[in-house]
Amino acid sequence: MPAPAGRAGSDRPSLADLAVPIIGAPMAGGPSTPELVHAVERAGGAGFLASGYGSADALLEQVRRVRELGARRFGVNLFVPDALPADLDAARAYRDELAPLAAELGIDELGTPRQDDSGFDAKVAALLADPVPVVSFTFGLPAPGTFRRFRDVGTAVWATVTSTDDAVTAVEAGADVLVVQGPEAGGHRSTFAVADTPGDVPLGELLRAVRRAVELPLIAAGGLTTGQDVARALEVADAAQVGTALLDADEAGTSPGHRAALRDPALTTTAVTRAFTGRPARSLVNELVRRYDAVAPPAYPALNHVTWPIRQAGGAAGDTRFIPLWTGQGWREAPSGPAQRIVADLWAAAETAARGGGAASSGRMQR
Ligand SMILES: Cc1cc2nc3c(=O)[nH]c(=O)nc-3n(C[C@H](O)[C@H](O)[C@H](O)COP(=O)(O)O)c2cc1C
Repeated sequence: MPAPAGRAGSDRPSLADLAVPIIGAPMAGGPSTPELVHAVERAGGAGFLASGYGSADALLEQVRRVRELGARRFGVNLFVPDALPADLDAARAYRDELAPLAAELGIDELGTPRQDDSGFDAKVAALLADPVPVVSFTFGLPAPGTFRRFRDVGTAVWATVTSTDDAVTAVEAGADVLVVQGPEAGGHRSTFAVADTPGDVPLGELLRAVRRAVELPLIAAGGLTTGQDVARALEVADAAQVGTALLDADEAGTSPGHRAALRDPALTTTAVTRAFTGRPARSLVNELVRRYDAVAPPAYPALNHVTWPIRQAGGAAGDTRFIPLWTGQGWREAPSGPAQRIVADLWAAAETAARGGGAASSGRMQR
């Protein structure tokens, strides 16, 4: 696969140059740490910082730490604010629905629904002033001209898409690489508008459809936790982006409760729900999902603020019944241990799977 032409910069992580075509997914809310990013790079892949939440200053501090550790091939992920304001009335109604639960948990007050872009413009400005190799965008595309400005400072721009239509839109907007996220993925679905219903075309099929429609390098994401999964994805894609496979890695900042939930036999399934943030996201099904999924409106990020006190209390108490347990469908296979070893083992298993036939007879696995 050719590297995007004409964009100099020794730090640019061309997918073709990765010794191991595995990308450590951005995982906001704690799991992505500079140490995790560095460990994925040491295994031959590339890692991502997640800056969907938090301030521009916190992001720059993480970038500084990644560099201090010696990482050179890494990216930063940003959440693109929705074009439309969040439906605050719907979020207030949801807060009323949650009031009995807050009372049960001894929480005085739920969060105030509000609009919030998590300092998106400040983060863009910070990353233009202090460029990193890659910036990936989730939840849509930034304002026209943003891709060009990043490219001008030597930063590759990746767009996360969940449908062929969005893939075409991202290509037309000038993305360098597409992260194609299937419905199996843990965490938020990268739909372009809050109210969009995410598609349910399985990753393999979605990848093939996107491959037919566009010519950019593709990164597959969603449910890739075994070598077989990765090998199959790389029949079409140029790299595999894994999140859940790294959730229980030593270097991840995943909360103890979230880690424990991955091994909890009482949690038997995952579902895509708006119950925590107002945007569709795949979580293990816990009590909050069971009780409130049906009444959660599409009001991101307002619901994120509404549910914050519940999540904070649950996190502090190690009580996993009411916190988001973002997890992909392959969570049962998620390994634990050092991330470098997890990535190395995953890649070795993918190569074995490809050699065993049945998977990956062409494409990236042949390198
Ligand atoms: C805990 C968690 C947090 C996530 N946070 C982000 C994020 O901040 N930005 C993003 O683009 N994707 C995020 N995702 C989605 C991942 O980028 C990726 O699409 C997903 O992890 C792939 O599916 P898998 O979890 O089955 O490997 C998150 C996923 C998880 C599990």
